[in-house]
Amino acid sequence: MTIHAVVEAHGLTKRFGTFTAVDRVDLHVAEGEVLALLGPNGAGKTTTVRCLAAILRPTAGQARIAGHDTVAEAQTVRHLVGLLTEFPGLYQRMRPPEYLAFFGQLHEMQASHIRQRSEQLMRQFGLWDARDHRMGEFSKGMQQKMALIRAMIHDPHVLFLDEPTSAMDPQSAKQVRDAIAALRREGRTILLCTHNLAEAETLADRIAIIRRGKIVALGTPAELKHRLLGDPLTEVRLTQSIDGFLSRVTDLVEIVDHGETWFRYRAARAQEVNPRIVRRLTEAGHEVVAIGELEQHLETVYLRIVEEERAGNE
Ligand SMILES: Nc1ncnc2c1ncn2[C@@H]1O[C@H](COP(=O)(O)OP(=O)(O)OP(=O)(O)O)[C@@H](O)[C@H]1O
Ligand SMILES: [Mg+2]
Repeated sequence: MTIHAVVEAHGLTKRFGTFTAVDRVDLHVAEGEVLALLGPNGAGKTTTVRCLAAILRPTAGQARIAGHDTVAEAQTVRHLVGLLTEFPGLYQRMRPPEYLAFFGQLHEMQASHIRQRSEQLMRQFGLWDARDHRMGEFSKGMQQKMALIRAMIHDPHVLFLDEPTSAMDPQSAKQVRDAIAALRREGRTILLCTHNLAEAETLADRIAIIRRGKIVALGTPAELKHRLLGDPLTEVRLTQSIDGFLSRVTDLVEIVDHGETWFRYRAARAQEVNPRIVRRLTEAGHEVVAIGELEQHLETVYLRIVEEERAGNE
């Protein structure tokens, strides 16, 4: 028996006329994994997600959700997935209970189950007190949360979240991120499109960077950082001038940058190297104020990948 990933794409391609929006994408998302899809505007994230969620029919290639083909078994796939779209339209004149009942029924849920799920989710997102209001009166963030609840009402196997926190105030965005983190802890499989790199880094197990319809990088945040930025940088700060000290450690590390009383180096095995550096400093009569690894930012990785690709293509 073949073990399928929960989300798989093989050579997934979507063309609009002669324009290729998604170009031979291969993707495997394991059960319980959160994958963030990053990339510039127009890169093809939403189109990829719409193909995976059986909303769009791919031009070529194949996609499966929990082993079900998104074209041949589109209806099954639509029940297995929950999709938060980029521009969710709500039924402005409806109130949340009717709205959720409508979508729950589409997923063949029983009325009592819909009511119980609705209450639980609306309480979780702080919308329970607004349940008797028409959704047309809701703020943008409240509407976005309603759309997320709608995507989750049938307790889907896989969640596709296309920019779930855009247009939200920091507190609402945090509620949504907390909800995603909770789903992740429950072992839910999630594909998350976002422009918020910090959000991708905290929520996702792996990150895929897509540009011009192609996946150009894929890995855990740590893997991508290591691949693109190399070993982490360590910074040492001293009480006094470093004088001629640096020449004494070039056999151990590569000095990347320095000032009057500080220097930075790159080392593959910090655990081994750092104590030796400190020892040599002490022997040379220096006093160490601080030694620490500098944080590597996903933003640097992202910009480098996106810009490298551009340089390569133009
Ligand atoms: N229905 C459509 N007809 C024609 N072109 C389309 C259609 N849908 C998307 N496209 C084009 O496909 C490309 C990818 O769009 P998509 O919405 O997937 O990008 P995205 O990565 O989600 O961007 P954003 O970050 O802005 O949301 C764009 O150039 C877009 O104009
Ligand atoms: Mg999009």
